Amino acid sequence: MFAKEVYWQRRKILRERLGEGLILFSGNEESAMNYSANTYHFRQDSSFLYFFGIDKPGFYGLCDVDKDRDTLYGDDFTIDDIIWMGEQPAVSDLAASVGAEASATIKDLETVLKQALQAGRKIHILPPYRGDHFLTLSRLVGLDQEGIKKLVSQELIDAVVGLRSIKDQYEIDEIEKAVDVAGLMHTTAMKMAFPGNFERELAGAIEGIALAHGGPVSFPVILSMDGQTLHNHYHGNELSAGRMVVCDAGAQTALCYASDITRTFPVGGLFSSQQKDIYNIVLKANTETIKASIPGRTYREVHLMAARIIAGGLKDLGLMKGNTEEAVAAGAHALFFPHGLGHMLGLDVHDMEGLGENHVGYSKSLKRSDQFGLAYLRLGRELEPGFVITNEPGCYFIPALIDQWRGEKKHAEFINYDQVEKFRGFGGVRIEDDVLITETGSRVLGTPIPKTVEEVEETMKV
Ligand code: GLY
Ligand code: MN
Ligand code: MN
Repeated sequence: MFAKEVYWQRRKILRERLGEGLILFSGNEESAMNYSANTYHFRQDSSFLYFFGIDKPGFYGLCDVDKDRDTLYGDDFTIDDIIWMGEQPAVSDLAASVGAEASATIKDLETVLKQALQAGRKIHILPPYRGDHFLTLSRLVGLDQEGIKKLVSQELIDAVVGLRSIKDQYEIDEIEKAVDVAGLMHTTAMKMAFPGNFERELAGAIEGIALAHGGPVSFPVILSMDGQTLHNHYHGNELSAGRMVVCDAGAQTALCYASDITRTFPVGGLFSSQQKDIYNIVLKANTETIKASIPGRTYREVHLMAARIIAGGLKDLGLMKGNTEEAVAAGAHALFFPHGLGHMLGLDVHDMEGLGENHVGYSKSLKRSDQFGLAYLRLGRELEPGFVITNEPGCYFIPALIDQWRGEKKHAEFINYDQVEKFRGFGGVRIEDDVLITETGSRVLGTPIPKTVEEVEETMKV
């Protein structure tokens, strides 16, 4: 955990921004995999972690804005818990460690919340995203699911997004640790990417690295020779010469901060000239748009710059044609680059997405586009110092999409479909880094991970 003052200060600012009422943060419960004693790896709710820091199931945090008081609620551990789980701290010790008052029973919370509602006080909650959140909240406040939904507070969402979007030095240090573990994961995958090995062997090895560093992985490993499938979790193929592996994977630190890194590398260690052509276009989109990621510029502008670099590069290769600006404005590049340039990163891989993607990535003055491709851009708004974002351009050859667009003659004035056919079966390339927006520009976080054609081939030399 961070020092207790960190949590205390965050809650103080939050209370000041809310003005009145009670703010309730639900910690997560264990989640059953196939029967209740066999659980998934426990993952605490990220906003609860941010404000109350306790990484254990069964806790609630309540900030009383009117009384300037924060209370941690949880049932004290019993002797049965201690027999199965070992010695446990008292709720009062846990509360003291994050600068809050303690109440050692959840029943007290139920009483406080029901009294508050009867007295007409406002209770602010964040959007529930697990079924059991509704059940427990329903019991605690005595409202049905529709009543719970009415407690979801836009004021609270805005205040939490405002705070969590700007990372402090403690958080940046944690994310850099997560990136460094990811670096080891990716270089290990590169060194294993030889014909005869199976994708699952690479995926298993890198997941093990995250675990060995205190992990788990920050999201299920995406690793496949079929990199044209953007989030491919199937790892059953045997690696074969002439293909590339897209590996999109990150680690979670002990304090639950995430990294999210993608590298693409050739099976056998050497890129073909066709692979280099596409790879270097994506690399240019990545490096040029990291340089262009500066405070005051919208990430939508930066995304469109990446799109123009990719479309321009594909035009040089004869896959696209016509005016590049016009092609991108029309959305023709999205045949090859159908997703967004990136998203916020922090305690969540897609940071704060559970609070509503548009509340995090867009603003009153900038609304999300509905154009195919641009609509998938999770972060469009103006960049600010302290944002940690991903930069992840890609270029893919998705047979079903090519066939659909070709059949419809879609954007035929910008796409040379006959040339595109030559890349059917190519797969895809994505390169992803984690980037801090500074006062004057941006900085790629962590120790550099091999990225140029030469660096990747050097890493894979046997
Ligand atoms: N790892 C998923 C993503 O890059 O958004
Ligand atoms: Mn990723
Ligand atoms: Mn990402």
